[in-house]
Amino acid sequence: MITFKPEDFTKKQRHQYILGTVNPRPICFASTLNQSGQPNLAPYSFFNIFSSTPPIFIFSISNRRDGSMKDTLQNARDTGEVVINLVNYSMARQMAICGVEYDAGINEFEKSGFTPLPSEMVKPFRVKESPVQFECKVLEIKTFDDKPGAANLIIAEAVLIHLDENILAPDDTIDPNVLDMVGRLGNFNYSRAKGESIFAIKQPPAEIAIGFDNLPETLKSSKILTGHHLALLAGVTNLPDEIDVARFKEQSQNANLMAAVKQPNEGSLNLIQQKLKEFLDDGKTEEAWLFYLATSK
Ligand SMILES: Cc1cc2nc3c(=O)[nH]c(=O)nc-3n(C[C@H](O)[C@H](O)[C@H](O)COP(=O)(O)O)c2cc1C
Repeated sequence: MITFKPEDFTKKQRHQYILGTVNPRPICFASTLNQSGQPNLAPYSFFNIFSSTPPIFIFSISNRRDGSMKDTLQNARDTGEVVINLVNYSMARQMAICGVEYDAGINEFEKSGFTPLPSEMVKPFRVKESPVQFECKVLEIKTFDDKPGAANLIIAEAVLIHLDENILAPDDTIDPNVLDMVGRLGNFNYSRAKGESIFAIKQPPAEIAIGFDNLPETLKSSKILTGHHLALLAGVTNLPDEIDVARFKEQSQNANLMAAVKQPNEGSLNLIQQKLKEFLDDGKTEEAWLFYLATSK
């Protein structure tokens, strides 16, 4: 571990270390208008949702190297309105063009080739190509410092939300594979939430899991099972009862396995844990518990 105080490093190092590790960050593609009504579009990845009821967003805009305000900040201050568009993979390359520091008054819709779409409750345009668009009113702008690079936190509330119906799954949730979201990493790197990058962990908060502290010591000190395997075992709410265990023992396909691990020596312990790992890697957590209980009695 490298341990350091923020002031131990140069501004550049600190920036690299923090942005290169706190990620992937979603991208707020902020559309604003200046006081004369000229459009501006820029990406901001110091961004997240703060609450869904009401829908509150936060994103942060740093001062330019010369200490001046970026156009989005100036416009948000002057008009109190912003449209936050989300960025998916098919938009990413064009979006990056809007990160170029064009002079104020340059229309990044024209530079990047995105299509401006009129909003309904605020004046800035939406980005037609974006699958999710939030029309927002700026609630507050918090300025921490006026030095170059210092951040200004924008707090905004969505007053109208637009979702592309194609991203909706039949059960009315969002299909992440269709949404195909990108995240910002460090340097010029991005990540994509699609296919094998997406995985589910079903651990409903209201269902009280037994936890690591209720796992047998032999499993917790295993050299075969990892924290991931132990968490699968610890994530259940109940253990199988004696009747289920007896039924499991009687099943013919388990007989050979049970015979092989009958002797309580180190070899059979390893075999048990190896088999447990196989069950868990195959997504068979209940079978893993049944097998463990059947062999440990
Ligand atoms: C993906 C991406 C994320 C960015 N995130 C931020 C950010 O969180 N804060 C920031 O100040 N600048 C960020 N930038 C840089 C701004 O987009 C850039 O300074 C832009 O020119 C600002 O435009 P504006 O002056 O029109 O607002 C990011 C750039 C890219 C490409």
